[in-house]
Amino acid sequence: METNVRRMQQDIENLARFTATPGQGVTRFSFTPEDRGAREYIKKAMAEAGLTVREDGAGTVIGRRSGKVDGPVVMIGSHFDSVRCGGAFDGTAGVVVAIEIARVLEEHEVPTVYPIEIIAMVEEEGGRFGAGLFGSRAMAGLLSDRQLEFRDVEGVSMAQAMRDFGFDPAQLGTARRHPEELKAFFELHIEQGPILEPEGISVGLVEAIVGMRTYQVTITGRPGHAGTTPMDMRADALVAASEVVQQVRRIALDVGNGAVGTVGQMQVLPGAANIVPGEVRFTVDLRSHIESALDELHSRLYSAVEQACAREGVSYTLDQVSDAKPAHLSPNLQDILEREARVRGISTKRMISRAGHDTQIMATLTDAALVFVPSKGGRSHCPEEWTDYADLKNGADVLLGAVLELAGAEQR
Ligand code: HGY
Ligand code: MN
Ligand code: MN
Repeated sequence: METNVRRMQQDIENLARFTATPGQGVTRFSFTPEDRGAREYIKKAMAEAGLTVREDGAGTVIGRRSGKVDGPVVMIGSHFDSVRCGGAFDGTAGVVVAIEIARVLEEHEVPTVYPIEIIAMVEEEGGRFGAGLFGSRAMAGLLSDRQLEFRDVEGVSMAQAMRDFGFDPAQLGTARRHPEELKAFFELHIEQGPILEPEGISVGLVEAIVGMRTYQVTITGRPGHAGTTPMDMRADALVAASEVVQQVRRIALDVGNGAVGTVGQMQVLPGAANIVPGEVRFTVDLRSHIESALDELHSRLYSAVEQACAREGVSYTLDQVSDAKPAHLSPNLQDILEREARVRGISTKRMISRAGHDTQIMATLTDAALVFVPSKGGRSHCPEEWTDYADLKNGADVLLGAVLELAGAEQR
C-alpha cells in the first residue's frame, strides 16, 4: 500500500490557486475569499475520500473515518492558511498528504480499530491577526482571552472576521478536545530549513520544536515637519524603533544556542518622506528551544525598548501576543516512523524544528510527531518554496505506515 504522488501534486497545484497575490506566491489568510476557496476544495476532497466532514468552533476542517471503536482518535493534519506571498507547500503539503492517506485507506478498504481524523487547521501562521497556532490552541484550550480582539491591518477583529465568514465566535470553545479523546497526532510538514537537502536525507523526524513568543510594539513620538523641526527638538519614533531592531539582533546573538529574534513587520506613521515619524508599530518574534533562554530574550527585549525610548524621549507600549512553549515530541512515534522508513529504504534524521508548528500545541494533548520533507535550498515563506514530489511521497508513505500501526489497521 502506498500513496499516489500524482494526486498529491494535483492537490497542491490546485490549492496554490487560492491566493490573494497571483504570480507572487500564496497569500491565504484565514476567513478570506482565498480561505473559502481552499476550504471548499479540502471539504470536497475529504468527502470524496469517504470522510464525514465538519468544521469545529475555530473554523478548522475535520474529516473523520470511523474505526471499530469510537475512540481515541488518530489525528493527521496541518494548516491551510499561509503567510503573505508564501509558498505552495507550507502547511498545505501536510493537509494534502493527510487526505491522500485517507484516500488510500478507502481505496484498499482498510478497516482500523481506532477512528482517524484528517485535520486542516486555520490561522496557524497568524498572518492576518498576529497570533498564530490558532486552530490547535483552540483544540488544546490554550487561546489567549484577547484572541478574538486581535485585529488585521484594516482594523477588522478576529471575532468580526469569523462572523462575516459565517462562524459564530461564541462557539470557539466547542473546538476544545481532551487528552482522552486522542491517541496520537501526526503532522507532515516541509522542513523550511537548510539541513535535509544538503545531507541527502529524505525524512526528518522532529524531536523538539522551538518555543516562540511574539510581541506587538507601538512607539509614539512627535510628528513634525521634516524641514523645520531642528534635530535637537525631535522625538522621532522611527529612530527609537530602529535602535530596538538592532538590539533584537544583538540580544539573540548574545543569548546564542540557536536563539533567533526577528522584526518582520513594521508600520511607520503617518508615513511620508517629509514628516518626522510620529508612531511606529512593529512585531518582534523571539525563539529558542530552551525555555530559560526565551525568558532571557524576553527580559532583554523589555530593557532594550525601555532604554531606546528613554534616549529618544518617546513613549511605548509592548504587548506579548503569543507564547508557544518548546515541545519535546514522542520518541515512541519517532521510533515507529524510523522503522517504517527503514523497511522502505528511506533515510531519516532526528532533528529540532526551528519553525513553530501546530504539533507543538497538540503535543500538550497527546503523543505527537512531526515528519519533515526537504525544502529546496532550505527556502520557505516565499514564492520560491519548493519540495520535490518524490520527497513528498517518501514522507507520505512513511507516515501512512505509522498511521496504519497506530490506528490498528488489520491489513498492512
Ligand atoms: O512561524 C513559523 O515558524 C511557522 O511557519 N508558523
Ligand atoms: Mn509557515
Ligand atoms: Mn507551516
